[in-house]
Amino acid sequence: MTNSGVVKVEVGLGDRAYDILIGAGLIARAGAEIAARLPGVRAAIVTDENVAAAHLDALTASLDTAGVASTAIVMPAGEKTKSFAHLQDVVDGVLAARLERRDAVIALGGGVIGDLTGFAAGIVRRGMNFVQIPTSLLAQVDSSVGGKTGINSSHGKNLVGVFHQPKLVLADTDVLDTLPAREFRAGYAEVAKYGLIDRPDFFAWLEKHWQEVFSGGPARTQAIAESCRAKADVVARDEFETGDRALLNLGHTFGHALEAATNYDGARLVHGEGVAIGMALAHRFSARMNLASPDDAARVEAHLEAVGLPWRMADIPGELPDAERLLGYIAQDKKVSRGALTFILTRGVGRSFIARDVPASEVLAFLKENHPG
Ligand SMILES: NC(=O)c1ccc[n+]([C@@H]2O[C@H](COP(=O)([O-])OP(=O)(O)OC[C@H]3O[C@@H](n4cnc5c(N)ncnc54)[C@H](O)[C@@H]3O)[C@@H](O)[C@H]2O)c1
Ligand SMILES: [Zn+2]
Repeated sequence: MTNSGVVKVEVGLGDRAYDILIGAGLIARAGAEIAARLPGVRAAIVTDENVAAAHLDALTASLDTAGVASTAIVMPAGEKTKSFAHLQDVVDGVLAARLERRDAVIALGGGVIGDLTGFAAGIVRRGMNFVQIPTSLLAQVDSSVGGKTGINSSHGKNLVGVFHQPKLVLADTDVLDTLPAREFRAGYAEVAKYGLIDRPDFFAWLEKHWQEVFSGGPARTQAIAESCRAKADVVARDEFETGDRALLNLGHTFGHALEAATNYDGARLVHGEGVAIGMALAHRFSARMNLASPDDAARVEAHLEAVGLPWRMADIPGELPDAERLLGYIAQDKKVSRGALTFILTRGVGRSFIARDVPASEVLAFLKENHPG
């Protein structure tokens, strides 16, 4: 940590290595940080309407002061913006601003804007400089780190995209104060996830300090930095997801199935909430398979409950499809080979692993036992 309270996390990807800076007031420093790394650069800022209203002026002013000329491209907010139509809008906007390959495309927003903008930056002029200024907690701890970009197709989410690493990530912890409380909590599920994957000390720290993470200040910076370190470690080991990176899917197999089962209706369940329930289920299921102690599952459930996240299927408002149909969603999300599924399971808090031979019949029995209907 520097005396300004900014923490730097390095993503070690050889000649594509870059820094993540985390701390309060970073938008005001964005111009200087970008100009220092990309001298003479001009920029297009891609953002959404909500984030533009709260933070675009501050970013534009910071770039101006550093002599970085910029234009803004403002998209509608929401998952539907990750589409071919909006990709075209961004690409055309960047080209209309006459930006060259060595100029920069800046994503100012949550994961939707980051994924869309990163994809555009990856394909305009065969790859332009890309800077991430994530403004949701989920984007700061997850989507802005690792270089996955993309949009949705009518065949499913995130099916079209490229790996395109940013040159710099600036996570301003103050911007989270304008994020709706429910979105903050949902992003927190991903923070807890890093503890549950392989950082038991971090999970124990969160159990003690989560209130300070929610209220802001140094604990928030520390939690985001530790999360970025955790993700950067995995990404540096397995950039293109051929092995270990799958651990990041802890809670996501059950979670994605629940999102699909609720028709991606954000009023009922947002992604991080699905992950919270999914992590609780993954721990409970691991206990049922005698891999972990039921005490660990109870500990995870208690923490999710304390922070106000849902942790059982019964916490989702409205009716859910029955256990067979839920298993169908899981099988769609994961490849099923000979009646076996791949899951991220655990031997206890901070001891998760990739289990490749989980019998579908066991999952079905478990879903039946835990189904609220
Ligand atoms: N690339 C990856 O590795 C990766 C990883 C995880 C998730 N994702 C993607 O991320 C997306 C979800 O990201 P998200 O949860 O940030 O959603 P989002 O971008 O839709 O942001 C959530 C909401 O918060 C608003 N918002 C964001 N920052 C704000 C702020 N500071 N103040 C006020 N409002 C603000 C947005 O306008 C939006 O309405 C999904 O599309 C998912 O697929 C990508
Ligand atoms: Zn997630």
